[in-house]
Amino acid sequence: MNFTVAIDGPAAAGKGTVSKRVAAEFGFAHLDTGLLYRATGARVLAGADPVEAAKSLTPDDMARDDLRTTAVAQAASKVAALPEVRAALVQFQRDFARREGGAVLDGRDIGTVICVDADVKLFVTASDRVRAERRYLELSGNGHDVTREGVLHDLQVRDARDSEREAAPLAAAADAVVIDTSDMSIEAAVAAATDEIRARLKHVSV
Ligand code: CDP
Ligand code: CDP
Repeated sequence: MNFTVAIDGPAAAGKGTVSKRVAAEFGFAHLDTGLLYRATGARVLAGADPVEAAKSLTPDDMARDDLRTTAVAQAASKVAALPEVRAALVQFQRDFARREGGAVLDGRDIGTVICVDADVKLFVTASDRVRAERRYLELSGNGHDVTREGVLHDLQVRDARDSEREAAPLAAAADAVVIDTSDMSIEAAVAAATDEIRARLKHVSV
């Protein structure tokens, strides 16, 4: 069976959490595409050329322990604006999306560029303040030395860069279902996503 779920949205909206949970629920594979850009950004911070780094990513690059830092997030968003970097990462994502057994991909351009024919497209979002608070709690809880103001600033700078770039900007696909999680628990957000997927699964031959 091929079944693709595309989940896009701004930083710290809950895309990853929702994606992991629905992938587990339906037995689909999950790809956090932000990790591709974070791994490329981390290699660039270490001196690599962005396009060469994107073309030669290894599983070790994807497993680095600094990928969640704010510095790497910013570097990721800068390399993500380069069309050649994005082009180098397209095939891997499309192959993943078409894998047997179903796939969930989360990022910025999954429903608009990578998987325009996805079976389900969701755009998960929340207010800046809510997203910054969630990311602050997550980073500080994991021992990162961050402030609320610093995290909010990082999110706003990245969201602006990601939305305003010419190459695959952050945007909801015209046929995406928007889930605003500002006032939703994780459980409620997962339930909303699960309902959309279940409704669609009824209509496709699996
Ligand atoms: O993947 P993305 O950057 O969009 O967000 P995430 O890493 O899934 O979520 C960011 C943080 O918000 C995590 O610590 C989640 O547990 C939390 N979260 C939440 O508190 N309520 C939600 N409805 C969704 C996520
Ligand atoms: O978890 P969070 O939403 O904070 O970030 P992420 O999903 O790990 O993405 C890091 C950066 O990679 C984003 O700010 C985007 O610039 C870029 N990205 C992208 O351009 N396209 C994607 N499909 C995924 C991430």
